[in-house]
Amino acid sequence: MIPLFDTYPQMAEKCPYVPLAELPTPVQPLSRLGEALGINLFIKRDDLASSRYGGNKVRKLEFILAEAQRRGVRTIITFGRAGTNHGVATAVFATPLNIHTICLVLPQPNTAAVRQNLLLMLAHGAELHQFRSKNRLVVGAVWQAGKRTAVDRRPPFILEAGGSTPLGTLGYVNAAFELRQQIEAGECPEPDLIYVAAGTLGTAVGLMLGCQLAGLKSRIVPVRVVETEYASPRLMARLFHKTHRVIHSFAPVIHNFHRFEEKFDLREGFFGGGYGVYTQGGETAVQQMQQLEGISLEGTYTGKTLAALIADAHNGQLAGKTVLFWNTYNSRPLADQIAHADYHHLHPAFHPYFATS
Ligand SMILES: Cc1ncc(COP(=O)(O)O)c(C=O)c1O
Repeated sequence: MIPLFDTYPQMAEKCPYVPLAELPTPVQPLSRLGEALGINLFIKRDDLASSRYGGNKVRKLEFILAEAQRRGVRTIITFGRAGTNHGVATAVFATPLNIHTICLVLPQPNTAAVRQNLLLMLAHGAELHQFRSKNRLVVGAVWQAGKRTAVDRRPPFILEAGGSTPLGTLGYVNAAFELRQQIEAGECPEPDLIYVAAGTLGTAVGLMLGCQLAGLKSRIVPVRVVETEYASPRLMARLFHKTHRVIHSFAPVIHNFHRFEEKFDLREGFFGGGYGVYTQGGETAVQQMQQLEGISLEGTYTGKTLAALIADAHNGQLAGKTVLFWNTYNSRPLADQIAHADYHHLHPAFHPYFATS
């Protein structure tokens, strides 16, 4: 049983869940980076969450795809930017369950990671469409939903960007319970602070709710790496309460969340020039992690998050604290999966990503 269901056995009977990840993910000391920063530093290796595709999406999909299977859907329509990790994960894990993935995306700055993800989605059978604006994307979604309803003879499953629905967020509530088990087993001391990237918020909010339910004192530091229209204290609070209601519907848990209000703040100042636009601090953080610990991060999410942690360490704010960096980026090698993927098979709207580097 997963740690969340161990604690709330009633949930196991009612809550949709399909095991996809290889859990628990390791928690390890980052001795060299910690020493360089003068802090007691650990890492939670969700980058190893699955040998098919690591990162933070697989925990969310364990709940989301179980619900999709329960509804008997044949297609998932989901959203993101061109290089969406969530789109990749959905295609990687939904296709073997005979669920077709359609990913509707907005453009983003071109990087090697974007090109790799486009090829991964292609290799895993996803259908991709790019739109120039959010309004056009909404129209496209309505059109695709109608088309798939006719083809599948049932409506598709509409999945929000990043998989940050209340059900998906349960993946990170469960992750907090998993961390508690690791703390109890002596694998790491109880962190004072947990630094995590905040995009569509499911990861950070799930950890916040999970830590409170699990009785951990750890405070989550969600580092904003997307525009404020997608990540704000108001949206965090909303997702937190909705997720709590979902848990409550499966297992009536009485809890007094008197610490709520103080918790809904995002760490600002590390977003930089835009979504997917690398910052100097982020690039330095990625290099330091690679050189000192041999772990690969990227510049859109995890580099900016580590940059915040490093800045706080330099300011002396982390002195005497135990700090956990939650790695949300895949580190499994993926080259084999795209060895035969040819970008010419993508819609021509995506070809410019491959014309420049
Ligand atoms: C590598 C990586 N880290 C962090 C995040 C942010 O997680 P969330 O969307 O749950 O806030 C994402 C996705 O958006 C991601 O792809």
